[in-house]
Amino acid sequence: MFDAGAQAHGSLVGSDDGVRDRTMSAELQEEDLTFDRSLRPKFLKDYLGQEKVKESLAIMIEAAQARGEAADHILFSGPPGLGKTTLATVVANELGANIKTTSGPAIERTGDLAAILTNLEAGDVLFIDEIHRMNRMVEEVLYPALEDFALDIVVGKGPAARSIRLDLPHFTLIGATTRTGLLTGPLRDRFGIAFRLQYYTPEELAAIVMRSAAILDVRIEEDGALEIARRSRGTPRLANRLLKRVRDWAQVRGDGVIDEDVAAQALAFFEVDSLGLDAMDNRILEMLAVQFGGRPVGLTTLASALSEEPDTLEDVYEPFLMQQGLMIRTPKGRQATARTYEHLGMVAPEGL
Ligand SMILES: Nc1ncnc2c1ncn2[C@@H]1O[C@H](COP(=O)(O)OP(=O)(O)O)[C@@H](O)[C@H]1O
Ligand SMILES: [Mg+2]
Repeated sequence: MFDAGAQAHGSLVGSDDGVRDRTMSAELQEEDLTFDRSLRPKFLKDYLGQEKVKESLAIMIEAAQARGEAADHILFSGPPGLGKTTLATVVANELGANIKTTSGPAIERTGDLAAILTNLEAGDVLFIDEIHRMNRMVEEVLYPALEDFALDIVVGKGPAARSIRLDLPHFTLIGATTRTGLLTGPLRDRFGIAFRLQYYTPEELAAIVMRSAAILDVRIEEDGALEIARRSRGTPRLANRLLKRVRDWAQVRGDGVIDEDVAAQALAFFEVDSLGLDAMDNRILEMLAVQFGGRPVGLTTLASALSEEPDTLEDVYEPFLMQQGLMIRTPKGRQATARTYEHLGMVAPEGL
């Protein structure tokens, strides 16, 4: 299934994730991407949180190295900003391997993929971001490459056409996606292992903020880091971004040191609410609680009421709201919860 919807809004903002990434604004993008890269952990020991994932990866890496073989193909999934791209580079670094990076929509023709594959060397890591947005014909070329390290190419035309099989070096594919649900079965099955990244706890995010502050030479206290962490929607990219905003505020309005008070004042100034929800999150909650009065509503209806793409709503906004218990998905649709009303400072209707 080729997801044209995701592609359409992917081109809206060219973040390194296809879905619109509200953790970075369009005009700040270049600067932000450099910023992201400068803070990106290089090895597992600097990658904080996601303990279970790290442990499994460490075992996999060590085993592959002991056998002198390429590691199994790996799939990372989860909402934007949780560290999928970072993990791909970390795995390559830990393996001591070269990494070649591309993305699903960038591989337009089967020939493009063939060129990438034939240029790989044994042990290389090939990283395909937004792998769910790869076109179907291209994807089919990938199957034998993943399974048998072989490339089937057709030479000649018409009745004289025949297929020949080229051997490829043993490489490791790392795929990243915000939407496992859109991956075709055959592609999913060809990954040796799949990891779903989870939202980070405030404590984990605080540790990430402290690490970033040290790299950026920002003076910050633990409670200041925790205040930023609590309002970062479980997302490291956002935590780093908020750190940057708070740093500026502390420099101009304070004495440059970020403590809890400074962080709280700065974040209030930038209108980041106590749960880190942004204007769109709050519009979604209001829509569910007020306009739809707490009754279940279908995804497409909700999306059109918000003038938003259903995909973006589903990939970018819903996961965190659901994780926070601010909305639920029932067989009949999306619905506000008692907590939604509480967050909006409203009284919930009877029976909710
Ligand atoms: N576990 C982590 N520890 C420290 N920093 C992280 C971690 N995960 C992500 N980051 C930071 O967040 C930023 C966004 O991560 P990224 O890998 O680009 O997310 P994704 O590819 O899932 O959208 C990175 O640049 C990095 O600085
Ligand atoms: Mg990414």
